[in-house]
Amino acid sequence: MTNIQAELAAAFSRAIAAAFGPEAADADPQVKWAADARHGDLQANFAMGLGKRLGKAPREVADAVVGKLALGDLASKVEVAGPGFVNVTLAPAALARLVAELSADGRSGAARAAKGERVVIDYSAPNVAKEMHVGHIRSTIIGDALARVLMFQGHEVLRRNHLGDWGTQFGMLVEHVRELGWKPGQKREIGDLNALYREAKARFDAEPDFAERSRLRVVALQGGDEETVALWRELVEESKHHFAEVYATLGVLLDDGDYFGESFYNPMLSDVAAELERSGVATVSDGALCLFLPAFKGKDGKPVPLIVRKGDGGYGYDTTDLAAIRHRVRDLHADRLVYVTGAPQKQHFAMIFEGARAARWLSEGVRAEHVPFGSILGDDGKPFKTRAGESVRLQDLLAEALERAYAIVAAKSPDFPEEEKRAVARAVGIGAVKYADLSNDRIKDYVFDWDRMLAFEGNTAPYLQNAYVRIMSIFRKAGVDHASVLGQAPSVDASEEHALARHLLAFGDVVEQVARSLEPHRLCTWLYELAASFHHFYEKCPVMTAPDEAAKRGRLALCAAVADGLERGLSLLGIATVKRM
Ligand code: ARG
Repeated sequence: MTNIQAELAAAFSRAIAAAFGPEAADADPQVKWAADARHGDLQANFAMGLGKRLGKAPREVADAVVGKLALGDLASKVEVAGPGFVNVTLAPAALARLVAELSADGRSGAARAAKGERVVIDYSAPNVAKEMHVGHIRSTIIGDALARVLMFQGHEVLRRNHLGDWGTQFGMLVEHVRELGWKPGQKREIGDLNALYREAKARFDAEPDFAERSRLRVVALQGGDEETVALWRELVEESKHHFAEVYATLGVLLDDGDYFGESFYNPMLSDVAAELERSGVATVSDGALCLFLPAFKGKDGKPVPLIVRKGDGGYGYDTTDLAAIRHRVRDLHADRLVYVTGAPQKQHFAMIFEGARAARWLSEGVRAEHVPFGSILGDDGKPFKTRAGESVRLQDLLAEALERAYAIVAAKSPDFPEEEKRAVARAVGIGAVKYADLSNDRIKDYVFDWDRMLAFEGNTAPYLQNAYVRIMSIFRKAGVDHASVLGQAPSVDASEEHALARHLLAFGDVVEQVARSLEPHRLCTWLYELAASFHHFYEKCPVMTAPDEAAKRGRLALCAAVADGLERGLSLLGIATVKRM
């Protein structure tokens, strides 16, 4: 597949060298897709920087380069605008050829990454015996979209669900269920693990004897006592069972093979501590083994260290993440490490990365990135809660999404068979929740609003799914399978057709941006603009009643490419399309 952006960049580089000699040839031509159709299709923004370097006026630089530019039959217009932007409009024949190529390649024109990397992505990471709450939903949805995009690019993606399944609280939990009469291997129904946790915690706080027995139980757990470990394992399994249901409803990639919980790293912790102590990277302070990093200070100006080993010899969250990063680099040979957790953990990960560099586990060739995200807010602008003021259970939230979407589908299409109504409700309801989360710049908080996310207008999943449905209905009327016309030359004569075709060409660039920035909302914006552009086209350019057979064929080809792009883009976000709704 021709990469038109790269091709233009190469042509501009040659023109720059021809105009200003080899010493200017390394200037980045900065060819980007124009954000505004009035600026042509692509724009080269090199003139300001190069002008400065050469001591010439940017417009003069741009004119000189355009004078040497050889684009063959790719462009119909090249124009210097404003202070020295070069606007390029693609020639209709070239545009049609590029879209035909793109729609035939099964990737909507997105190239595979030049170098396939091994990427470890840490996401979802709920905690055992605690309900997944809306905070985990963001990690699960964003992490899953990123995993899909990176896989699509041809990287090897290792999913790591860093389950909170270890720590002192398990002493309390195991002791509590033991005293409730649990025996390992017994069949039992646990309605509410959360409640179990709350009960245990209440007892821990109120009954000193129970608290003492809980502490002994931690020692037994860490010492591998058989009964204790068996009961702990049952709590873990029960939680996984609950999480599996949520993952299935959400339709994310995560499965049982992706669990590498905190306990997985437990056998490595003492060695990690020993290595850090031996190398002098960590030092004992007040009885605890600490990893001090000069850049990290608390509000009082005192350094805050990573705690490698607590004063009582125990290990905590910091140690586990140090062990995990060492393992991911040293044993898994990852090229890139991605951690999808909320913004409050920003400092934690910055310190883990810095610590791993100090320990020489992380070297130049390995990228470690924290992917933070903001909170979900209620319509009162405060953290999203139920009316009773409790944190919202993810399961309840998803059930409500399905219910609301079902009501919409049933009202719109009462004649659909029951099974189809449910399938559409699933695509729309779950799609709406995911898309509402992904379409916002992830670092920002967003307000959870059912009516807005389920609306068929605006930047929503239903709006995009509906555009796809509309195209499918055109093909049903035409009696043609849309897949069968992929690869045919689209019609690009009308300005709406030109705009739509040109938008399709930017897909590969958008996917690359998402993979680089780890910001899924960039893909959402592209999808939204694609659907909006399609609606403009649809208003102005009738397909079934096109002026002639050739125009109809060209428009069908364009519609097929758009449907394919919508479906592929949405699937990278983990969102399904349906043929009618
Ligand atoms: N279980 C943690 C929580 O619920 C998130 C873990 C994130 N991953 C990690 N490697 N620390 O906040």
